[in-house]
Amino acid sequence: MKLTFYGHACFSVQVNGKNLLFDPFISGNELAHSIHVDQIQADYILLSHGHADHILDCEAIALRTGAKVICNWEVHEWLHGKGVTHTHPMNTGGQWDFEDFRLKCVVAQHSSSLPDGNYGGNPMGFIIYAGEESFYYSGDTALTMDMQLLPLWAKLKFAVLPIGDNFTMGIDDAIKASGMIQCKKIVGVHYDTFGYIKIDHEQAKARFQQDGAELILLDIGESTTL
Ligand code: NI
Ligand code: MN
Repeated sequence: MKLTFYGHACFSVQVNGKNLLFDPFISGNELAHSIHVDQIQADYILLSHGHADHILDCEAIALRTGAKVICNWEVHEWLHGKGVTHTHPMNTGGQWDFEDFRLKCVVAQHSSSLPDGNYGGNPMGFIIYAGEESFYYSGDTALTMDMQLLPLWAKLKFAVLPIGDNFTMGIDDAIKASGMIQCKKIVGVHYDTFGYIKIDHEQAKARFQQDGAELILLDIGESTTL
């Protein structure tokens, strides 16, 4: 599966020839000037929660591409109010077979309000199943015991986890999460964007390596095949 990183916690994964775009936040990210929001392709947009640093560019990309937006019920209702009506509401614990993949929504330990102060429901993580392969995006979250359930549901090829600390897990807890979810290949997100979450890349990679895991940190705009 090909993954492209767009900065912060925004990335896309090609699944069965379709582009799944996660948590679009580009125009507000001063590190992501090389990325043009109006050129991003998306067939589906998946939103982990309602915070601006995860949904800022959703409206523009959804309206331009006609992508189906998958999110929790409260974010779905809010998007309808903005004229984004091609949506699929879900909630934690729920699973759905989309045409190109299966999706399961799992617990994330975080908060979720919308940029205008509206109630944003509960944050979620996602397991995406495509044929024999699956991957996990935890969304913004603390390390949580719920992660121990992941191996019951999926044998993960890779996982995308926040590593920036302060608002989410940091490196140490992301390494523990890697153990709980039984996945050694981790793509790090949610780091460097703001002063609170700056990390030392080489140190972070070395810490994962010490625990027998691999931390992949992509440049903004870089793609990799996983
Ligand atoms: Ni958040
Ligand atoms: Mn965030």
